[in-house]
Amino acid sequence: MTRGKRVLLGVSGSIAAYKAVEIARELSRNGILVDVVMTEAATRFICPLTFEALLSRPVTTQLFDDASSGPIPHITLADTADVVVVAPASADTIARLAHGFADDLLCCTVLASNRPLVIAPAMHENMYLNPATQSNVAALRERGAVLVGPESGDLASGGSGIGRMADIHEIVGHTMKALGREGDLAGRRIVVTAGGTQEPLDPVRSITNRSSGKMGYALAEACRDRGADVVLVSASNSLRSPAGVEVMPVMTAQQMYEATQSAVSNASALIMAAAVADFRPATTSDEKIKKGQVGIDLHLERTVDILSSVHGEFIRVGFAAESSNLEQNAIQKMTDKKLDLIVANDITSRDSGFASDNNRVAIIDSKGGVDRLPLMTKRQVADCIVDRIVQLLP
Ligand SMILES: Cc1cc2nc3c(=O)[nH]c(=O)nc-3n(C[C@H](O)[C@H](O)[C@H](O)COP(=O)(O)O)c2cc1C
Repeated sequence: MTRGKRVLLGVSGSIAAYKAVEIARELSRNGILVDVVMTEAATRFICPLTFEALLSRPVTTQLFDDASSGPIPHITLADTADVVVVAPASADTIARLAHGFADDLLCCTVLASNRPLVIAPAMHENMYLNPATQSNVAALRERGAVLVGPESGDLASGGSGIGRMADIHEIVGHTMKALGREGDLAGRRIVVTAGGTQEPLDPVRSITNRSSGKMGYALAEACRDRGADVVLVSASNSLRSPAGVEVMPVMTAQQMYEATQSAVSNASALIMAAAVADFRPATTSDEKIKKGQVGIDLHLERTVDILSSVHGEFIRVGFAAESSNLEQNAIQKMTDKKLDLIVANDITSRDSGFASDNNRVAIIDSKGGVDRLPLMTKRQVADCIVDRIVQLLP
């Protein structure tokens, strides 16, 4: 949905300017056309040529005497951008944006734009906490700008504090969300579950499985990029939370059930990509079980069946990870759990499945239609699944 859209990336005079290169690259990898505008101060930190070489596009720095964006560059740049991102945003640029200055190309372009504005401040802690900056940030937020960060951590000047520019994935995620705001899931709430649940045996040990959560995270991002309000109920603690998505961390199947039941109110779809344990230890020891206790018997009991237990009017999508009779078992599961779609994947395949970045799946619908997809990245698989969900929505 966001492929071919345009982002105007404004880079101002902060020590974090070098990180803007990675933001431009990441957006470009996502199929976004990036126009870079740099303030004069930004060009003291990083050279326009770096962006030009990596993006194969001219960089604009001057309001006057630069014909690369046409005779009225700020209007052309403002009109062609779908989203404007200022990263890093210096204290000075934030102040001028907050007060509507139009004395350089970046501020003039932002003033001329009526598109969503994403701002990532980056400066020394005292500059950020100064009441002048705080009031400028508040004014921009009040007008609808999305402020991403800053974060606390090591500062360029030494020491640590708040003021570091947000992680680039956070900035890119919020930009993708802004780009997808009018997508085919705009206004829809989608709940996605991800990861393998952990069922504790004692304070240090648990029964779990090899699910990484990558498929569920890719689905959450795919839904976000089409305008959905996404809730990710996650049992994975090894993946970075997707920006612009509400994450509900859980550990056990029971916790996942409770979080999912509360998240699905008003949802349009529930996508159960999590690998939920079918069994858990009947008792959990409060003390670490000593290895001297050789040959202990584990008594297991069934966990809650989340897909059958969560109620509400929404599209239900399940996953079937099978090692034999893939489609037959998946269809049985879809019927038993009254699903609208089931995504079947063969976990014996070496090049896909658990922990891999790729997956080879078949999407099966309740009318018996089977769509066998080739090996793809999990994000591409996610986009195909979301295409099917969109077709089913009322
Ligand atoms: C070495 C150095 C590092 C700087 N780092 C920052 C910074 O991280 N954030 C900031 O707001 N200003 C920083 N400044 C000050 C800005 O570059 C200065 O306010 C400049 O006028 C900003 O211009 P611009 O907002 O038009 O890009 C730094 C200045 C120097 C000399």
